[in-house]
Amino acid sequence: MSHQLLKGKTGIIFGALDESSIAWKVAEKAHESGAQFILTNAPVALRMGAVQQLAERTQSPLVGADATNVEDIKKLIDTAESTFGKIDFILHSIGMSPNVRKGRAYTDLNYEFLNKTYDVSAISFHKVMQEAWQRDIMKEGGSILALTYIAAQRTFGKYNDMAEAKALLESIARSFGYHYGKRNKVRVNTISQSPTPTTAGSGVAGFDKMLIYADKMSPLGNASAEDCADYCIALFSDLTRKVTMQNLMHDGGFSSVGVTEEILENLNL
Ligand SMILES: NC(=O)c1ccc[n+]([C@@H]2O[C@H](COP(=O)([O-])OP(=O)(O)OC[C@H]3O[C@@H](n4cnc5c(N)ncnc54)[C@H](O)[C@@H]3O)[C@@H](O)[C@H]2O)c1
Repeated sequence: MSHQLLKGKTGIIFGALDESSIAWKVAEKAHESGAQFILTNAPVALRMGAVQQLAERTQSPLVGADATNVEDIKKLIDTAESTFGKIDFILHSIGMSPNVRKGRAYTDLNYEFLNKTYDVSAISFHKVMQEAWQRDIMKEGGSILALTYIAAQRTFGKYNDMAEAKALLESIARSFGYHYGKRNKVRVNTISQSPTPTTAGSGVAGFDKMLIYADKMSPLGNASAEDCADYCIALFSDLTRKVTMQNLMHDGGFSSVGVTEEILENLNL
């Protein structure tokens, strides 16, 4: 479907790693919708190669940047400025927990790892926005998004320290959204997405069962990566100019349900 909702708009998309990545789907749909953008990911992710094909297909510059490294972000913003001038949108689609990766339980966290979790998964969002703000690179009425998960509000035991990182991420969106709204009418929101089979998602222990559980608990079923990309396009477009400082549930209704018949029927009591 080519509605050209983003025709003439420019932006930066963080976090497309492979075809399953939510950011990958956003890039494809942003391209179809008429946007131009820079694709960026950590240098180690670029070396894996898949994202080069996406860059070619969408005719996008590809820039390596560790989102925790302010110097890298400065260079990325330089490239955005020299390519597009001011930009309309930024997608932060980044998450990583060394505690999850190394199988540390929530009751046995390594605190250096915890700091890394916060830095990569939440503080990087502040770093990107602070650099964008200081360089005044966002156009009036632009839109900035990050992706989050409901473990920020409710406990999912195996989500580990990512729960705290997502709570911090959502708070940063609200706080920066206040300042950006006042100065530039720029929107800042987080989308709280259903469990989605991607590299980051599948790293959470018991992910396959969480996926089925969430699907059975959601009247509309789980939102896919493609569904999430559609929502991102709507939020980058001019049709949502008064939506800001929100954590927007994009979960097929999961967050409002107590229990469904499908779950009850599957209980073997
Ligand atoms: N998959 C899910 O179930 C799910 C659910 C809700 C929210 N989310 C969120 O969606 C976002 C995207 O994740 P995904 O599921 O598409 O998985 P993904 O693994 O495809 O994307 C995560 C990305 O983060 C990047 N990244 C990691 N460290 C980085 C760094 N230092 N600098 C720059 N980039 C770095 C990775 O290279 C990767 O591209 C994450 O914030 C994730 O927490 C995912």
